[in-house]
Amino acid sequence: MSIKPKLVDAINEQIATEFQSAYQYLAMSAWFTRSSLHGFAHWMQMQWQEEIAHAMKLFTFLHDRGGNVVLRGLDAPVAEYSSPQQCFEEVLRHEQQVTERIHALYELAQQERDLALQMVLQWYISEQVEEEAQVNEVLDRLRLVGTDGPAIFLLDRQLGERSASANQPQA
Ligand SMILES: [Fe+2]
Ligand SMILES: [Fe+2]
Repeated sequence: MSIKPKLVDAINEQIATEFQSAYQYLAMSAWFTRSSLHGFAHWMQMQWQEEIAHAMKLFTFLHDRGGNVVLRGLDAPVAEYSSPQQCFEEVLRHEQQVTERIHALYELAQQERDLALQMVLQWYISEQVEEEAQVNEVLDRLRLVGTDGPAIFLLDRQLGERSASANQPQA
């Protein structure tokens, strides 16, 4: 079944959102590197890779359904943060917005009775639950330690151990 034009537009919008997320996390990674917090920088690069994979999963899906992928312009990401905590507050806010967008896209897929798109989006819905939980965990620790240098360095070392997610989509 070919995909409706309205859904093609909405999927292209979501592909752009995922690439925008990737771009934002890459900028955050650069900021952490400049701050000599290489574990945080590594964590952000893992996040960057995940967002690219999210974009590519929809990219492939759209092609499989006979839709045209049309890439959109990205905004310049914010480059400076006042602290690791403030940076992670931004990550959480961003992920919450992405979750809302995915839920809206899912509702549209329901309205348009596109079952295949609904199936694919169910993966994204649970992925967002996991992402928000991961970010909340880091944020909780950052709020706990405040600006305590040794604790930040310990956390930096822990975040540096993050490996690629087991929940990666097949891009
Ligand atoms: Fe994503
Ligand atoms: Fe994300």
